[in-house]
Amino acid sequence: MPAYAVIGGQWGDEGKGKVIDYLAGKVDCVVRYAGGNNAGHTVVNERGTFQLHLVPSGICWPQVFGIIGNGVVVDPDVLLGELQQLTSRGIDTSKFLVSERAHVIMPYHIVLDRLEEESRGSGAIGTTGRGVGPAYVDKTARSGIRVGDLMDWEALVPRLEQVLAAKNALITKIYGGEALVLEDVLAQCRRWAEDLRPYACATEQIVQDLLAENKRVLLEGAQGTLLDIDHGSYPFVTSSSPSIGGACTGLGLSPQAIVGVMGVFKAYTSRVGSGPMPSEMVGVAAESLREKAQEYGTTTGRPRRVGWFDAVAGKYSCLVNGFTGNVLTRLDILDGFPSVKICIGYRVDGGEINRFPANTNLLARCQPIYEEMPGWDRPTASATTLSQLPENALAYIKRLEDLLGCPFQIISTGPSREETIVVEETIK
Ligand code: IMP
Repeated sequence: MPAYAVIGGQWGDEGKGKVIDYLAGKVDCVVRYAGGNNAGHTVVNERGTFQLHLVPSGICWPQVFGIIGNGVVVDPDVLLGELQQLTSRGIDTSKFLVSERAHVIMPYHIVLDRLEEESRGSGAIGTTGRGVGPAYVDKTARSGIRVGDLMDWEALVPRLEQVLAAKNALITKIYGGEALVLEDVLAQCRRWAEDLRPYACATEQIVQDLLAENKRVLLEGAQGTLLDIDHGSYPFVTSSSPSIGGACTGLGLSPQAIVGVMGVFKAYTSRVGSGPMPSEMVGVAAESLREKAQEYGTTTGRPRRVGWFDAVAGKYSCLVNGFTGNVLTRLDILDGFPSVKICIGYRVDGGEINRFPANTNLLARCQPIYEEMPGWDRPTASATTLSQLPENALAYIKRLEDLLGCPFQIISTGPSREETIVVEETIK
């Protein structure tokens, strides 16, 4: 019963969508376990380019069950819109399912996300504004509405009445916002219940059944380890657990079922939103890298901050997740740079450290210690074998492997499925 996880090793946007779409050709099921439509996964294949926010990235393969597990928070309008768009482009969505235990992003969560961010002033997190944080707050506070609750009308009405009264008090009295109308929210819930009914089920059972039949299951991470609520640069994090622990709780899956944990790392670093990023580039260098790589958020369109590869943060991600193999993406973006740098330590408060600190204020004071390597003038773009890579690119890859203490099993050299070097088969 083999399950394989694909997890972001940095601050999200590592190119997991392409990796998952590529690997999904070898599996029977792809499952999202955390986050919501704050994620944006880009998939490019012979059917076109797809920007997916909720539906698992393996959906384009006809044999694949695409499942949203209990750990995800679901905005039904976004989900239903995405399914409709996929169907209209000829993608079969008949194997799509959503957990009845997944929490719903309600309209007041989106309102509160905006109001809370505004109230944070200069300390704003830079959330995606999709209501993800407030939905997870309600889940933990035990006042959330789950997908299954939408279909239990008798119980939903009094519960929503109570919850909405509390939310409206918060919205109007604390933030000076406008109250939401109960009847409007109920009407929306009624519509959602009807539209989601065909997909809602006990997904943990489906996943267990598939594993029992010896089918292969791919666990699709969203965001990245450095955005993890526990392990990331708190409080500049998302509200879920993108790292491996989140996969077990977000699916109802035993860790024993997971035989491979793959970390996805971009050949450089990017971050969207606020919070420290020690190897951040500034000025013209940052702008030219951003433009070349088109580093703009898939979800919000915001320009992403960019920087050199941070091996201190990367090593930490490897430890937290126990990566059994890594994937290197967007190597081609570094083609043509006269030299490339890797952050191998931090200078801080008169000393040096080589660990990713828990204290985010300390992290913000960290200055990168760089190791510089010669760049390569032959392109790596579209390479499909290691032998096609220039020597200096191979040396860069080897150095990253040594620093992370984990080999790269796949190297991505472009957005399409074919632009992939398989160093070692990851899914057996
Ligand atoms: P939230 O998840 O919308 O609450 O945003 C919290 C932080 O996580 C912000 O800095 C976001 O920019 C960041 N974030 C959330 N989802 C993603 C993602 O998929 N990629 C990159 N950053 C993300």
